[in-house]
Amino acid sequence: MNKGVRPGPFNVLVLGSGVAGLSAAVRLAGPGTGVLTKGVLSQSATRWAQGGVAAVLGGDEDSTDLHLADTLAAGAGLCDEEAVRILVDEGPGRVHELITLGVEFDREATGMLSLAREGGHSRPRVVHAGGAATGAEVERALVDATYRTAGAVLEGWFALDLMIEDGRCVGVSALPSDGCVVEVRADHVVLATGGAGQMYSVTTNPHESTGDGVAMALRAGVPTADVEFVQFHPTALHHPAMPRPLLSEALRGHGALLRDRDGERFVDELAPRDVVSRAMAARMSEQGMAHLWLDATGLERFEQRFPTIAASLTSIGLNPETDWLPIAPAAHHLSGGVVTDLWGATALPGLWAVGEVACTGVHGANRLASNSLLEGMVFGARLAERITSADHGPERTGALRVVLGDAPIDGIACTAVPGRPLSWPGPAPVGVAPDVPKLRDSLQRAMTDGAGVVRTETSLGRARAVVADVAACMGDRTASVAAGELGNLLQVADALLVSARTRTESRGAHSRRDHPDTVPSWRRRLVHGGGEG
Ligand code: SIN
Repeated sequence: MNKGVRPGPFNVLVLGSGVAGLSAAVRLAGPGTGVLTKGVLSQSATRWAQGGVAAVLGGDEDSTDLHLADTLAAGAGLCDEEAVRILVDEGPGRVHELITLGVEFDREATGMLSLAREGGHSRPRVVHAGGAATGAEVERALVDATYRTAGAVLEGWFALDLMIEDGRCVGVSALPSDGCVVEVRADHVVLATGGAGQMYSVTTNPHESTGDGVAMALRAGVPTADVEFVQFHPTALHHPAMPRPLLSEALRGHGALLRDRDGERFVDELAPRDVVSRAMAARMSEQGMAHLWLDATGLERFEQRFPTIAASLTSIGLNPETDWLPIAPAAHHLSGGVVTDLWGATALPGLWAVGEVACTGVHGANRLASNSLLEGMVFGARLAERITSADHGPERTGALRVVLGDAPIDGIACTAVPGRPLSWPGPAPVGVAPDVPKLRDSLQRAMTDGAGVVRTETSLGRARAVVADVAACMGDRTASVAAGELGNLLQVADALLVSARTRTESRGAHSRRDHPDTVPSWRRRLVHGGGEG
């Protein structure tokens, strides 16, 4: 539905319709706010999020200090502690607001919220909805509220590039589904376009997760960092379906076990995700296996607790009460993105970023499970508050501090990545119509082979050669939405590969076989588009 299409000018234009963007949009409700999305409003990655929201909501033995400590430990030395403090302190209030908005989280028979444990969490503190349908439930409530309150909802509009005038972002150029490129002007543009899991052939992310916001920022030279840290989810179902069906970490939280080819356990199932995915990759390679097993046969009331997972397993003939489930790691979450201050402002005045597209510093080198819906809710609300205030920043806080030239904070420095963003050599070779789906497939396979759970200089170099080849063949990236998405995937993949080759150590979700140690002097963010220190 295009509600009263009016392509601006807006006061605020939100790009994207996941939890982060809509958390901001509902707070900025009114005629001056537009939401622009390439699909329909309910078609975001949020709707696929099984895993819940981590927040300290009860439980005598839990505290925000513990949630903070768990997040910092998972982030492997690259979290911005101030940003994490905000996340854990403001999170519980945001969950209660969602409940007021009508989100129904799972409860015990006593009426208390059910709290699950997931990897890297020292206490049970993750709330879910419908067992493993949390994202869909949160998205439902936010989508309803946005349709009711936004000034305009532009559905089927693909944002191509940022418009910048006199050092300020003043809108975007965009491709509506039924026309040619138009300018959509706004005083404030909010990137809330999500992640880029579609760089990979094996991912839990939907077809739309093509890194559009990160790519726009890279092309415009807006500082973007930590893009080498792609988190792989250990327990995606090994099945041809794309995106890969996820077997939520909550299953391991309730006691499901990981088993190798011989039925042996080989890792602490509740270690942080990077640790579990690496242990799986190593065991799969030793045993010559394309997958391992998740044994959930000991879980009680599987179907009642996890109805959506049970239904998807049944549809492919698996019974979790009796069958071990084939699983393998799949690309799941981009921990880095467009660098922001503690209010979501980027280094470019007028441009904001929130959710997976952003690098607030809360995830560091490896996101703690179920901290991402939380991040969207907390920083979406902060960003809305800041936009409605008189002072828009950007300020020297959070991950942006060091990028803007301040001395290292808490030991985290930053380094500008050498080189320029990927650019397109020109039109496709004469007489060759680019086969965009095929080119996308080549890119995805190259990234899975070369920039997966474990990387080497050689594997990364191979993937970069494919990126260059695909860019040379694809022609005009503004010709269609499919070409635009491929262009964005290439842009982000290239930045990822450059960073991953530059970071000659292993840290968090970035694991180099040829540089297996974590090196203290690499406690720094790699920044594209600026930053020195
Ligand atoms: C899951 O349920 O395992 C996914 C949760 C997340 O990615 O945080």
